[in-house]
Amino acid sequence: MLESLIYLERYRNEGTRTYSPHAQHNEAEERYQPGATDVAFGLRVFAVPREEVLVFLANPPSELKNTYLPGDEALFCVHPQVLAHKANDPHLAVLLKQSQPKADIRVSPSASTRTLYVLDNFPHALKVHFPFRISRYERKMRCEVIEQALAVSLELEQGLGAAPKDFAFMREVIGIVSKEVKESNERGENWGYLVRDLHPWPLVAEKRRLVPGFALYGRDFFDHSKIPLLWELMGREEATSFVVKQIMLPIIHHWLWCYLRFGFIMEPHGQNVLLELDTEGAITRVVHRDLSVGIDMRRRRDLGLDSSHLNTYNRMEDGIFLSIAYDKFMGNHFFERLIACCQERQPQLAAEDFRIPCRTLFAEQFADYSRYFPESVQYFSEKRDHHNKPFFLDTGKKPLWRP
Ligand SMILES: Nc1ncnc2c1ncn2[C@@H]1O[C@H](COP(=O)(O)OP(=O)(O)O)[C@@H](O)[C@H]1O
Ligand SMILES: [Mg+2]
Repeated sequence: MLESLIYLERYRNEGTRTYSPHAQHNEAEERYQPGATDVAFGLRVFAVPREEVLVFLANPPSELKNTYLPGDEALFCVHPQVLAHKANDPHLAVLLKQSQPKADIRVSPSASTRTLYVLDNFPHALKVHFPFRISRYERKMRCEVIEQALAVSLELEQGLGAAPKDFAFMREVIGIVSKEVKESNERGENWGYLVRDLHPWPLVAEKRRLVPGFALYGRDFFDHSKIPLLWELMGREEATSFVVKQIMLPIIHHWLWCYLRFGFIMEPHGQNVLLELDTEGAITRVVHRDLSVGIDMRRRRDLGLDSSHLNTYNRMEDGIFLSIAYDKFMGNHFFERLIACCQERQPQLAAEDFRIPCRTLFAEQFADYSRYFPESVQYFSEKRDHHNKPFFLDTGKKPLWRP
C-alpha cells in the first residue's frame, strides 16, 4: 500500500498548489521537500526517560506503542532541519540533555512536507514539529494541538458505529511532547510529534489502494504528458455523474456527519482526503486525515455533548471557520479543481451541473444551516495576530456549494 501512495503523494502533486497566493511557499530545505528525488531521509530520534515527556494515547496498536514507547522510555523524534537550525530551542535543549541518541528512522515526506511516512512494515506516519513556513503557516506541533488531535481521533473512533458506510479516517494514536520549560499565562510552546495509523478505520480485510485527492488532478512530476488519474478512474462513465456521485456527495455527507454529530469542522481539501480503491480500481470509501479540526462549541452544546476531554485549542463560537472549511477548502480549493480537470477533457461540461446536486444534498441534510453558517463566504485576511495567525475576512460572496 505504502509504495504507490508515497509516489502519488510526492510526484502527482504538480500544478496543484495554486489555491492561494501562499500555497507555493515552502521553507523546507530542498532535500526534505516532497518533490526531492531522494527515496528517504533520516528523522533524528532520541530516547528519553518516560517521565521527562508528556504522552497522549488514543488506542494505539501495540506495534506502534512498542516502537515509540519502549520499556520505560519514549522516543522523541526531531526533524533534521529543526536540529540544524533551531538547536537553541529551549525545549529541545532540555530534552537533548536527558536523552540517548538512537538510530535515525527512515522517512519519506508526504505532500504536507512535515508529515513523514515511516518506511516500515506497519504503515504509519509521523507528524512532526516544523517551525518553518509552509504555505500560510509555520508548522509547529505544540502540545495542545497534539492533545486535541488525539481527543478528536478517539471521539470519532468511538462514534464510528453510526458513520456513513463509505466514511473512513486515519487515526492519530500517540502523541509525545516535551514538557513546558517556563510556565506563562500565554499559550504553551512545548512541542512534539504525533503518530498516525495509516490503516483507514473502520479496518477492512481486503487489499485496498489509496489515492490522495490532489493526485486526481495533479500532474506527474516526471512525465507531464500523463493523463490525470481522475480521467483514468472515470473510464467511460459520464464525468459529471461520476464525480458528483462518487466523490463530491460522499464528501459533503461525511463533512455534515462530522459537523452535525460532533461539531467537528473537517477540512476536506485535496491534501486531507484520499480515495480508497479496491483491486478493480472502483472507489470503496473516502478516507479523511488531519484531525486538527475546528470544533464548533455551539453545536456541541446544542447536542448536549460533554466537552470536558477537549482542551481550548481551536474551539469556535461562530460560523466563520465553517465557511472557510466548507466553501473554500472543500468547494473552492478541491471541488472546483475537479470540475476544471473534467472540463479540460470535455469543455462543454457546466460547473453548475456539479454544484446543484451538492447544494441540494446540503440543504436536505442540514435544514437549519443558517443557524450556524454565515450567509457569505469567509476566508483568511492577509493581516495576522501576535501569534502570526491570520485574521478572517468576509468576502461578501455568495456561496456556490451550499444555499
Ligand atoms: N494540493 C494541495 N492542497 C492543499 N494542501 C496541500 C496540497 N499539497 C500540499 N499541501 C500542503 O499540506 C499541508 C497541510 O497538511 P498538514 O496539516 O501539515 O499535515 P496532515 O494533513 O498530514 O495532517 C500544507 O502545508 C499544504 O501546503
Ligand atoms: Mg492537512
